[in-house]
This record gives sequence, structure tokens and C-alpha cells, in this order.
Amino acid sequence: MNESTLPIYFAPLEGVTDGIFRRTHFEFFGGVSKYYIPFISPTQHLAFTSREQRSVSPAENAGLPVVPQVLAGRASHFAGTAKLLFDLGYSEVNLNLGCPSGTVTAKHKGSGLLRDLNELRAFLDEVFTSISGGSVSVKTRIGFESADEWDAIWAVLRDYPFMECIVHPRTRSQFYKGSPCTDAFARTAEARFPCAYNGDLNTLSDCRAIAKRFPHTGALMLGRGLVANPALARQWQGGKGLSKLELKAFCDALLARYEAQWPHKAVLGHMQETMRYILCCFDEPKREQRALRKVRTVEEYQGVIDRLFAECELRAEPCFALDRMSL
Ligand SMILES: Cc1cc2nc3c(=O)[nH]c(=O)nc-3n(C[C@H](O)[C@H](O)[C@H](O)COP(=O)(O)O)c2cc1C
Repeated sequence: MNESTLPIYFAPLEGVTDGIFRRTHFEFFGGVSKYYIPFISPTQHLAFTSREQRSVSPAENAGLPVVPQVLAGRASHFAGTAKLLFDLGYSEVNLNLGCPSGTVTAKHKGSGLLRDLNELRAFLDEVFTSISGGSVSVKTRIGFESADEWDAIWAVLRDYPFMECIVHPRTRSQFYKGSPCTDAFARTAEARFPCAYNGDLNTLSDCRAIAKRFPHTGALMLGRGLVANPALARQWQGGKGLSKLELKAFCDALLARYEAQWPHKAVLGHMQETMRYILCCFDEPKREQRALRKVRTVEEYQGVIDRLFAECELRAEPCFALDRMSL
């Protein structure tokens, strides 16, 4: 696909890319073809928690191109939830085969389903025989312990009619650190199965390199890089780069919208977390970074943010960097 028309997906980031964030990003920046909603995790009775209900409610997502994601260890839980989501009007539901959390993998969910490929096959057999009413995509890691597991996992996944396979080429053991194994993705992209690439696409040149190396990739999925620099997808589509003025307006709008709906304490924790990513884009924000960790009220938070925008400049290439998160 032509590089400039390659669509960008916003990766699901639980605790960051909630409904308010998605709507505000769409309104201020755009450039994203699909926003993947952070996972919902059905229990036996397929009941959604109130938070999950809100996150997938068509009203909450009206006008946004969103895809719900389901984390399940039992095929009946996945298929039953997918049916509820198709009935709500969604045409695609994404299966999470990537979550690395120990409490999740212990229940054979997320990347825990990659450990036993007979179990994975049985899961997918049941899902695809019982599901109707929409399409299923998958977001997967390339192994539990080692990238050597990928060929066998991929041989299973490509036997099923997924509408797309989004590959985050890290193993479960890597969590979100270390380098993605692009060589493993190479074998996926060559197979001409609809696939998308996810992992460490933090700059335009990162995106270009993957698009160039893997011309059969159907889309690029960006997570932390797009939270840190919310203009990156727009810029990839030929639009303008990030400006400090619009970033400030975006941060202020997020704060106001969370405040209108959430209790102060939740607003504060959430904005502190989101700003950890955005601060990566600034030159020398150390004083503000330290201050931000210590704020106790929304007013104190606003004071630090106002000072940040008044006193610090954006870096020449504003982008996410893992080592800047903990400065
Ligand atoms: C805080 C956090 C929450 C995440 N939540 C989810 C999730 O709900 N579902 C999912 O498939 N991946 C989740 N991920 C993984 C991201 O979607 C993505 O695969 C990962 O961050 C690598 O892409 P990136 O380098 O572009 O951020 C999460 C990652 C982080 C850091």
C-alpha cells in the first residue's frame, strides 16, 4: 500500500485511551482510522461492569471509528460478548492475545493463550463455529517466552478467518520493553494475510521504515507514541505537526471533560498518567516532572501545567521515549 495512505490505528491503552480521551483526540487531531477500545473482560454471565458498559456504549462512541476488544480465556465468553457487541452495532470485535499481566495469563487469557497451541486451536475452533453477525480481528504477541514460538503460533492463527491480524512483535516476557522482533513480523507480512504492525512507532521515520520494509502491511497501530505526540497520525496523513498551542488546548480540554464527569481524585491520577507520556515531547521538563508527581489537587496540577507550557519548549521532534517517562 502507498505509504501516505496507510491507515493509522490508535492502540488500546487501558487506563489512558478511554472514551473522553478518544473523543477529544478525534476532535483536536484526527488522522486515525480506528480507535481500539481497551479490553473488556467478560465473566461467566457476560455482564459488563459499569465502566466496561460505558466504554463500549454506542452513545459514548458516537461518530468515532472505534473497535471494541475482548479479553477472554473461554471461547464461549468471547463469542457471547462478541455477539452482544455485534448487536450493539459494531462490525468488528478484536481478540486480545497480547496482555502480559500475570493475573491475566494465569487465567489463560491474553498472551496466556499463546502458551498451549492445542488450547488456542480449540478456542478458535469454537469461536469461529459459533460466531456470526460481524468480523473478528486479533491483536497478538509473537510468543510467551521466546520469539522462536512465532512460526508455530502464526501457523495456527492464519488457519482462521480473522479480518486482520495486528502483530505486536514482542514476547510476553518482554512486557513493553526491549526491541520488537521485526524479523518475526517479516514472515507474517510476506504471507499476504491481512496484517497490521504495532510497536515502538514513535516518529514519522519509525512509521516510514516499517511501511517501506513491509509493503504488504495493511495498517500501522500506534500507542504510546500517539499519546505522547497526539498529532503524529495527522502528520503521517500529510497534515501539520504538533504545536504547543494546540497541545495546551488539548490538555485543558481533557482536564475539563474529566472534571465534568469524574471525581477529583480520579481526574488527578488520570491526568498525571497521561502527562507522563506528553512530557516526553518537551525539552528539559525535569522540574515540572518532579512537581507533577507531587501535586495533590487539580488546582496544583493546573499550576504546574501552566508553568510547563509557559517555560518549556517542545523538542525538535516531539516524541515518546521510554527513558524519558521516569526522568
Ligand atoms: C498502559 C498500557 C495499557 C495497555 N492496554 C492494552 C489493552 O487494553 N489492550 C491491548 O491489546 N493492548 C494494550 N496495551 C498494549 C498497547 O496496545 C501496544 O500494543 C503497546 O503499547 C505497544 O505499542 P506502542 O509501542 O505503540 O505503545 C497497553 C499498553 C500500555 C503501556
